[in-house]
Amino acid sequence: MKVLVIGGGGREHALAWKLAQSPRVEMVFVAPGNGGTALGEGLTNLPITDLQALADWARAEKIGLTVVGPEAPLAAGAVDLFRAQGLRIFGPTRAAAQLESSKAFSKAFMVRHGIPTAGHATFSDRASAHAHVDAHGAPIVVKADGLAAGKGVVVALQAQEAHAAIDLMLPADAVAGGGARVVIEDYLEGEEASFIVVCDGTEALALATSQDHKRLLDGDLGPNTGGMGAYSPAPVVTPAVHARAMREVILPTLRGMEKDGIPYTGFLYAGLMVSPTGQIKTLEFNCRLGDPETQPILMRLKTDLLDVLLAATEPGATGALGAMTLQWDRRTALGVVMAAHGYPGTPRTGDAIQGLPVEQPDAMVFHAATAQRDGRLVTSGGRVLCVTVLADNVRQAQQRAYGIVHAVQFDGRQYRQDIGHRAAAH
Ligand code: AMP
Ligand code: GLY
Repeated sequence: MKVLVIGGGGREHALAWKLAQSPRVEMVFVAPGNGGTALGEGLTNLPITDLQALADWARAEKIGLTVVGPEAPLAAGAVDLFRAQGLRIFGPTRAAAQLESSKAFSKAFMVRHGIPTAGHATFSDRASAHAHVDAHGAPIVVKADGLAAGKGVVVALQAQEAHAAIDLMLPADAVAGGGARVVIEDYLEGEEASFIVVCDGTEALALATSQDHKRLLDGDLGPNTGGMGAYSPAPVVTPAVHARAMREVILPTLRGMEKDGIPYTGFLYAGLMVSPTGQIKTLEFNCRLGDPETQPILMRLKTDLLDVLLAATEPGATGALGAMTLQWDRRTALGVVMAAHGYPGTPRTGDAIQGLPVEQPDAMVFHAATAQRDGRLVTSGGRVLCVTVLADNVRQAQQRAYGIVHAVQFDGRQYRQDIGHRAAAH
């Protein structure tokens, strides 16, 4: 079978790498892919980004399954478009992807279906937003409504920061209903975990748990990023927390989406805040796999990913997905992101990358923003690589990953030295 992966980041490299291991897969096309997928065994880059052109190409090439990595093509309706052409595709429809693409939609959905989340209010005019902050005080959280690549959230420890965020996110002349909106949330305390499931519209199959590090600097300081590293499993998700997450968040979400007439198919990522007493609240939904969580998660997956995604996209309610159990490597997987100079602001591109190790089943360097130029591998964006390893415990995984990180060279490289510190502390 020929498979198409849409996207070009580290998550898509890991997806393509894993799918290429299936004995039934003859080729994985990655559109547009990156410098790593260009060279991977069984992978071919496809320089098409227009969705209609991709669907036409997929039909002509008789692609058996398409998997969408990032949120943007999902929010743009990639799944609707492919399905309308009779193509098999794994992901949520444009309407279902609003769980991520609109914070106002997802908060209203959670309230309507009794899914635990932080108390919140939505504003489209500045004065009421400022008044809300004055009434509630800090700490408080201000979020821009809409996709912002993880950068539209300000966790304000001082009221002043919240006021500044509102001024930044809402134009001064904004009128109610005019488009721009902010969501202001109660601040939640606890430890975050990424809880990702595979959905076929009715059933959900949980992937291994994971945690990422969203801040740029060691000790979880500095600006928010798309993610500087991740590991799986997440020790904070005990069996009791896992059961709660399924019962209180995932299943009510699936039932709620069915009830609202937009059944959820695809990966569903619940960002959970786990309180010190094991209570959970949903911070956010993503309608896709996490990046960089996918890199460590898929290194631990022993089950054939093609089988899982085919089960999840079988026409009709066959129950194939619900009948599956996933096999996981018991070891810890840990991934360290190496980012370009200037990330998360304006990353510098074109720096030559050297010192990459040979691929091994338990030590992979997944590429994100890399490109082949004149026979050289160069940086082409913010998060450049994710060095991902398997080892018997978190500390050994850290040692092994950082051994590789230190050998990989490019000018201006940035990475955290402490990926996995929360897991190591458990
Ligand atoms: P989001 O994109 O909504 O997940 O927010 C990005 C990050 O901001 C989260 O991963 C949390 O670290 C933090 N955050 C978001 N909402 C809250 C909240 N209500 N309380 C505390 N931290 C939050
Ligand atoms: N690593 C966080 C995300 O993918 O949204």
